[in-house]
Amino acid sequence: MEQDVNIKIIDRNGVAHAILAPTDMAMNLMEVVRSYELAPEGTIGICGGMAMCASCQCYVLSDTKLPDMQDDEEAMLSEAFYVKENSRLGCQIQITPEMEGLEVELAPES
Ligand code: FES
Repeated sequence: MEQDVNIKIIDRNGVAHAILAPTDMAMNLMEVVRSYELAPEGTIGICGGMAMCASCQCYVLSDTKLPDMQDDEEAMLSEAFYVKENSRLGCQIQITPEMEGLEVELAPES
């Protein structure tokens, strides 16, 4: 059964986009941003989703329960710019049905 979740993504220009993200395509948040072209090509997902570039950093605005950070995500964020308390790497967040209502803001390009 196809199931989509409603997600709000604020782009780097401060524009909010209400989008539907599929939960049955093994997509992560970075790939969703790319597929909706919410950030210019070449400015997000540079490492291909390996937690090695931080170009997919976003700030989590909703209190949605997300999977815990793994060591590589934590390590990358400890070196990245513009990191805040609520920073996550979009490529490390798989879209699941629990993410209904998620709201994130893309971190500035670094
Ligand atoms: S795409 Fe490189 S860290 Fe997420």
